[in-house]
Amino acid sequence: MQDQSTPRTSEPAAIPSHVPRELVVDFDFRTGLSDRPHETVAALHNGPRIIYSPVNHHLKAGHGTWIPTWAEDIRKVLQDAETFSSKVVRSNSDLTLIPLELDPPMHGGFRTLMNPLFSPARMKALEEKIRERARNLAENCRDNGGCEFIADFARPLPVGIFIDLMGLPADNLERFMAWEELIIRDMHSRARAMQEVASYLKELIAARRKNPTGDLISFAVQGQVDGRPLDDSEILGICVLLFMAGLDTVTSSLSFQFRHLAEHPDEQERLRQDFSIIPAAVEEMFRAYAVVNTTRYATRDVELAGVTIKKGDNVTCSTILACRDPREFENPNLVDFDRSGNAHNAFSYGPHRCIGSHLARRELVVGMEEWLKVIPTFRVAPDAQLVASGGGVFALETLPLLW
Ligand code: HEM
Repeated sequence: MQDQSTPRTSEPAAIPSHVPRELVVDFDFRTGLSDRPHETVAALHNGPRIIYSPVNHHLKAGHGTWIPTWAEDIRKVLQDAETFSSKVVRSNSDLTLIPLELDPPMHGGFRTLMNPLFSPARMKALEEKIRERARNLAENCRDNGGCEFIADFARPLPVGIFIDLMGLPADNLERFMAWEELIIRDMHSRARAMQEVASYLKELIAARRKNPTGDLISFAVQGQVDGRPLDDSEILGICVLLFMAGLDTVTSSLSFQFRHLAEHPDEQERLRQDFSIIPAAVEEMFRAYAVVNTTRYATRDVELAGVTIKKGDNVTCSTILACRDPREFENPNLVDFDRSGNAHNAFSYGPHRCIGSHLARRELVVGMEEWLKVIPTFRVAPDAQLVASGGGVFALETLPLLW
């Protein structure tokens, strides 16, 4: 969900002199993760409270990054946006993703504007569309005895919901699916697709300024922030972020959660027999299979977890680490649908806490219900070579299922 269109460094940067050498760990959120990346990352809990990685998976080339491992410290960073900024300077685009890359107080004005878009009433109205889309996708797979779950279900479902959320006509689906394919393929296709999405949306913004309809762009065109109307680049920043934020996060969550069910037929059967358990099961799997790593930039020197973070340093907050912290969760690596007190941070914490979390929950819960209604007991294809990719959003590249 974070923009990775800026070239990434794989070269380790020089270690700044204020970083204690014993805290430097050769760890990279992008590589060496195995096909079970959550376990690889959770193993960092066996080490120090904070580490410094010479490679930074995020935006600032040539810099390493601090990685706090305790949930308590991760929350401190995410909560304090004045000290730990989300502002990103991009070399190849002047687009600001709104509100993700804004700091308070400006950030708050946009959140207030956008909150009604995600109101319970609106989510309820979307639910029927989620159900219908999920049912159709599952039914298209049923008679084949198997599917490639990501291409056939996990990717098209959120793209369709984005079209519904934006209020765009349904015939936009193919177009946005094609862009989504490009976005995940590689960095160059991603940059091209983002430009194409932006120019398509720019045209729509111009059209809606002339003739507003009931869609999300018309809402933004007519909306105000701090008593003034939004300019085109702000509306674009909101729409592009909604496209990016709600797609790969949902696709990845579906992939990891359905892989878990495919590997645990008893738990799969339990859910099939009693749908009332699904919301708690999904919540537990959001915790165990959190997918986002996000980075902040220190605006001043500050103490954290016993070290001095200097102004300009990067700090990577991993929701995967926060969600598998043994100080907060008993047996954190165990997936337990009956876990009580599951106050996880998979949707982040503080001012940037995910605005789409209720929508994401509906997509996972309703998607799972419809899938389990249509598809019999399923498992991972025995010859499948699963590959996970890391970075800002953890993902599975393929998930061949059989039933
Ligand atoms: C399972 C699915 C999802 C996960 C795990 C997830 C996770 C997150 C996380 C961790 C953040 C905070 C990033 C940060 O602090 O830098 C975030 C922010 C955000 N998410 Fe989600 N998200 C999901 C689905 C969605 C959906 C479906 C939408 C909307 C269509 C959405 C829209 C946003 C937006 C707009 C922000 C920025 C909020 C702000 O900056 O104030 N997300 N999400």
